[in-house]
Amino acid sequence: MKILRAASVFLCIFFCFFVCSSHATDTLRPGQYLTRYETLVSDGGVFELGFFYSPTKSVEGYLGIWLKNDKKRRPVWVANRDDHLMDPYALLYINPQGMVISDNRNSPFFFTYGATATTNRTRARILDSGNLILMEGGKTVWQSFDNLVDTFLPGMKIGMVSITNAQLKPMFLLSWRSAHDPTRGFLGLSLDKSTTQVDVWHDDGKEKPIGHWDGHEFKFVFKTQSDNYNFSYVLNSKERYLTFNNKESSVYSWFALASDGKIQEFMMVGQKISVVSHSVCGDCWLVSSRDRKLLLVIKVVVPLTFSILMLILFLYCLWRKHNSLGIYRFYIGRTDSVKLLLSQLSSDDSGSSSPVVELGKTKDHALPMLSFSCIVASTNNFSVANKLGEGGYGPVYKGNLLQHDIAVKRLSKRSGQGLAEFKNEVQLISQLQHRNLVKILGCCIQREEKILIYEYMSNKSLDSFIFDPIKRRQLNWRQRIHIIEGIAQGLLYLHKYSRLRIIHRDLKTSNILLDAYMNPKISDFGLARILSGNECGAETKRIVGTFGYMSPEYVLQGLLSTKSDVFSFGVIVLEIMSGMKNATFYESDYSLNLLGHAWNLWISGRCEEMIDPTLADSSSRDGLVLCIQVGLLCVQDCAEDRPTMSEVVSMLSTEGASLPKPKQPMYSNLMSEVDKALRSGVPSENLLTYSSIVAR
Ligand SMILES: *[C@@H]1O[C@H](CO)[C@@H](O)[C@H](O)[C@H]1NC(C)=O
Ligand SMILES: *[C@@H]1O[C@H](CO)[C@@H](O)[C@H](O)[C@H]1NC(C)=O
Repeated sequence: MKILRAASVFLCIFFCFFVCSSHATDTLRPGQYLTRYETLVSDGGVFELGFFYSPTKSVEGYLGIWLKNDKKRRPVWVANRDDHLMDPYALLYINPQGMVISDNRNSPFFFTYGATATTNRTRARILDSGNLILMEGGKTVWQSFDNLVDTFLPGMKIGMVSITNAQLKPMFLLSWRSAHDPTRGFLGLSLDKSTTQVDVWHDDGKEKPIGHWDGHEFKFVFKTQSDNYNFSYVLNSKERYLTFNNKESSVYSWFALASDGKIQEFMMVGQKISVVSHSVCGDCWLVSSRDRKLLLVIKVVVPLTFSILMLILFLYCLWRKHNSLGIYRFYIGRTDSVKLLLSQLSSDDSGSSSPVVELGKTKDHALPMLSFSCIVASTNNFSVANKLGEGGYGPVYKGNLLQHDIAVKRLSKRSGQGLAEFKNEVQLISQLQHRNLVKILGCCIQREEKILIYEYMSNKSLDSFIFDPIKRRQLNWRQRIHIIEGIAQGLLYLHKYSRLRIIHRDLKTSNILLDAYMNPKISDFGLARILSGNECGAETKRIVGTFGYMSPEYVLQGLLSTKSDVFSFGVIVLEIMSGMKNATFYESDYSLNLLGHAWNLWISGRCEEMIDPTLADSSSRDGLVLCIQVGLLCVQDCAEDRPTMSEVVSMLSTEGASLPKPKQPMYSNLMSEVDKALRSGVPSENLLTYSSIVAR
């Protein structure tokens, strides 16, 4: 009796334990709940239904089915792959709309679309095939095998299948997003629409076959690890699908489409599960959607951006080229040179009372080099309107560089010098700085062109005043003395104080320029040296000079010295005093030039008769006599008799001092004979070899 009671108690406890503990049932009924700690297990203990959570994000919960023997619980099916639960309090239950999963937020998710369970006879059941079915009485109203995920289990169908509510539905596998994310991925596996081939495809359109139904069996393109598959291809008036079962019931075999596009072949023998991956196309699925966006960026956006930038750059260059007809481009291109040049212009203190000889004031900076195009633009392409005159070494043009006037001397192309030598020489000459020398501002050596840029002299040259019947009145006696003294100072600097000891060789009134304050400035100095090389104080084969100003020893023997310039200076002094041109002077009675005429008047004490009539009132006789005497001393035939420029300067500054008596300029009178003969076209014995003298 006691034993019976004990046994009954034991049985009662056992029964209670069995009933309470074992939710290990395969069925869920209305009013029952499945929590995250409970599962449904199929009748034969093959499959298990329950919740699983993402290993990385533990709140992302899914309802899934896995093999009971699989310790890794790899889901073969997922109910809510795109709508994961958001918290750990998951529930599965049946309500009148069907099967529902919900989390704590009370937002129920129905995954049994199309099925309605309205009675208390509704059941949800997990089968040994892995199929989760919803039954109404004895009738299946929904099954998981009609809602494929990524796993192809025996009994599942791929193709066009008539589902439980008699509708046709395309069945195919869709991979997971990644190994741990059940969300829909980018790869699919399906039966071809028109053939019996099964393909794996990427959502970008790429597809690869994994095998085909040959009429008797399914042939994989890869070698499967087992031949446990009994495929059948079903084709009837409505459906067209491929399905399979296992030949051996003791071995359970199935497939899955992995997120990397490989076909995973699973095999379970007893409790042991093995898996083999078959690749159908190497790395061709590796390009994920995100990678493709990156690829798009690299292939399209980067070259496009680059092209646009190049186009902008090209247009900018084009714009600059078009915009550069004026001075602007050169200002950009040659900023430093132009700035330097203009700074010299602005530092020019015209009319200032700076020391007469600016010794050591030579700046050692480099001479600005301007581009030829810059010169072209500044002179309006050397237009005739801009031409100031034609000097001994080439034409001179007026130019304008950024609102600053400049004089541009385009040197004649004859020169035996190399460019470097030429440039060096110009640099040297440009360092001669004296208030009575025209300042060289810059130069241009380009395209065989040799161009010097000078400061612009608003009053042009001396000859335009003294030989002009009207303009000569603007120069009074005081101004003319000032001009004579200025020329003397400039020459003295060239001869004595400058480092280079320049002989001008072509001193004449048209080479004496006048600035706005009527200060004389010698131009073209050093040009003979620049163009012919350094020949100072030596014999020269080519005679450069202007008729009427050249000394006898230079014309006859080619002998060149500072005294040649002194001779020219003497001629200029007499011209300034008289307002008459030596080269074109004719007195009706005597075949005399200006020099002979001056001599005759001076020796007979009638200097006043020689003077420019416009000066008559303002001149002092002593100053007049002094200037004429200095002029005559300078034009003496013999070079040794002529004073040096420093003597000339002191003679001019000491009025009333006793000067040496000048000798008669015989040779000059002879020259006037030659000139007269040349002009009348009559050949003369006295022409000698002077034909090389070019009157300019
Ligand atoms: C089901 O519901 C019907 C009526 O709604 C009721 O008569 C029947 O007893 C219920 N059956 C069960 C098993 O609860
Ligand atoms: C193969 O499948 C067909 C259809 O399901 C079935 O009739 C046949 O018996 C199966 N063969 C084997 C060897 O399992």
